[in-house]
Amino acid sequence: MVNPKNGACRLVILISGRGSNMQSIVKSIARESLDAEVCAVISNRADAAGLEWAASRGIATQVVPHREYPSRQDFDGALAQVIDAYEPHYVLLAGFMRVLTPAFVERYEGRLINIHPSLLPSFPGLHTHQQALTDGVQWHGCTVHFVTAKLDHGPIVAQGIVPVLHNDTPETLAARLLSVEHAIYVQVVRWLAEGRVSLDENQIVRVAGVATRAFLPDGSVTSTDGKEQS
Ligand code: GRF
Repeated sequence: MVNPKNGACRLVILISGRGSNMQSIVKSIARESLDAEVCAVISNRADAAGLEWAASRGIATQVVPHREYPSRQDFDGALAQVIDAYEPHYVLLAGFMRVLTPAFVERYEGRLINIHPSLLPSFPGLHTHQQALTDGVQWHGCTVHFVTAKLDHGPIVAQGIVPVLHNDTPETLAARLLSVEHAIYVQVVRWLAEGRVSLDENQIVRVAGVATRAFLPDGSVTSTDGKEQS
């Protein structure tokens, strides 16, 4: 199921808001004719702006309103039913603001990917840009990772960095980081579509033929003389 070499890599993207990461993934699949397809965009919020954008591109959209379910388990069960109808190879979280139950995470083990706006394991949770400013770090960043039951944790697929400026606010820092988020998530989608991403026995990510997955502020990959992984 995970290696999508037979036909297009089927993706379901979960959002809660504007969905700019989702949009950049959809656009790059079209622009680069990637062997991938966003089969559905699903939100827990009916007012998520990204839903309208996805629908305007002819992508199926669904809302699973979390408030209508008595427990996280019930919500996650309903969400999984909707997701599974699209038979995705991967489920991408892109600004999906719900904590998922261990049962949900287990159901999609090795197929559930998230983007988090910090250099994990630093600054899990919310308000990551404020956390970075409070701690005075000079580099901030974002992480694309496999989802595990521990919040904002799990095998790292790619990371990107931006500098922190002396007069940054959480908003300016978030805006600087967003373009790197888009670059790294799209790159991960390329790798997924090419069937190159795997987890080794120590739960470390390997991307066949890729020596470094560290991205610079302009979205390019850092230069390296490291050997390619097999
Ligand atoms: C991004 O910063 C993402 O890293 C975080 O939530 C934000 C979502 O932005 N998880 P968007 O909806 O993709 O524009």
